[in-house]
Amino acid sequence: MFTPETYTNRRNALRKEMKSGLILMPGNTEAAYNYPANTYGFRQDSNFSYFFGLDHPDFFGVMDIDNGVDYIFGNDVDMDDIIWMGHQPSVSQQAEGCGVKNTAPSSELSEFIGNAIRNKRTLHFVPSYRGETILLLSHLLGLNPLRLKDYVSKELIKGIVKLRSVKSEAEVAEIEKAVDVAYIMFTTGMKMAKAGVKEQEIVGAMEGISIAHGRPVSFPIILSINGQILHNHHHGNFLKEGRMLVMDGGSESSLLYASDITRTVPVGGKFSQRQKEIYEIVLNANLKSIAATAPGTLYRDCHYVACETIASGLKDLGLMKGDVKQAVAAGAHALFLPHGLGHMLGMDVHDMEGLGQINVGYDEEIQPSDQFGTAYLRMGRRLQPGFVVTNEPGIYFIPELIDLWKSEKKFTEFINYDKVDEYRDFGGIRIEDDILVTEHGCRVLGKPIPKTVADVETTMGM
Ligand code: GLY
Ligand code: MN
Ligand code: MN
Repeated sequence: MFTPETYTNRRNALRKEMKSGLILMPGNTEAAYNYPANTYGFRQDSNFSYFFGLDHPDFFGVMDIDNGVDYIFGNDVDMDDIIWMGHQPSVSQQAEGCGVKNTAPSSELSEFIGNAIRNKRTLHFVPSYRGETILLLSHLLGLNPLRLKDYVSKELIKGIVKLRSVKSEAEVAEIEKAVDVAYIMFTTGMKMAKAGVKEQEIVGAMEGISIAHGRPVSFPIILSINGQILHNHHHGNFLKEGRMLVMDGGSESSLLYASDITRTVPVGGKFSQRQKEIYEIVLNANLKSIAATAPGTLYRDCHYVACETIASGLKDLGLMKGDVKQAVAAGAHALFLPHGLGHMLGMDVHDMEGLGQINVGYDEEIQPSDQFGTAYLRMGRRLQPGFVVTNEPGIYFIPELIDLWKSEKKFTEFINYDKVDEYRDFGGIRIEDDILVTEHGCRVLGKPIPKTVADVETTMGM
């Protein structure tokens, strides 16, 4: 955990963003896998962890905005628990670790909230993503679980997003730890990427490295020789010479901060000329959009830097044509890059996405685009020092999308479909880094993971 003062300061800062009432912050419960006692590994709720830090199931945090008092509701263990799990600190001992003095058994929560309702106090809570939490909140508040989302507090969402968006030095250090574990995961994956190896073997090795260094991966690993499928979780293929292997994964630090990295490598360790040409365009898009990342800049504009770099590179190869800026403005590049440049990164790999992407990546100044491709940009707003974002441009040859656009004669002024057809069997390439926005620019976090053609080939040959 961070220091007790860290959590106290965070709760006080959140109170300052709010007018009045109580903030209800349920922690996560254990989640059953295939029967109640056989559970998934426990993962605390990120908001609960940010404000209370306790990595323990079945706690419920409350912050009183009006009188500055915080509470943890939870049960001390009984003898049965001690027999099966060993000695556990009491709830009040645990609560000291996050600067909370008031604790009570879970059985008192219902009456506590009932009193608040009778006293007409405003109760703030954020959207839930787990059935157990939805049922608990609905029960406590006397609301229909199916309608609970209609009662979430926009004020609370706004306050949390404001605080969690700007990472402290200690939080950045956690993300860097997670990137450093990713360094081992990815360099191992690169060395394993030889013809005949099954994708699953590499996934297993990478996941094992994450667990061995603390916690499981920060999201299910995407790893495939069919990298044109953006979020490909099928790992049943055997690697073949001539294919590119997309590896997109990350680790989670002990304090629940994520890394999110992508590297794409040629099976066997040597890029062909054709692979190198497309790879260099993606790398250039990654480098140029990182160079454009600075406080005060709209992240949407960094996205456009990447899009234009890709359109320009593809024009040089004869796959696109016409004016690059016009092509990107029209959305023609999205045949090859049908997603956004990146997203916020923190305790959630798509940080705070559970609070609503529009509340995290957009604001009064900038709203999401409805144009195919850029519509998937999760983060468009103006950057501030302390933001951590991913930078993940790619080029993909998706045969079904190529056929559709070609049949519709879409953007024939910008796309040379005859040339594109020669790349139908190419697959995809994505390169992803984790970037801290600093006072004057930005910094790529963690130990540099090989990404130039030369460095990737050298690592794969080791
Ligand atoms: N982890 C999926 C992504 O890169 O956003
Ligand atoms: Mn990723
Ligand atoms: Mn990402």
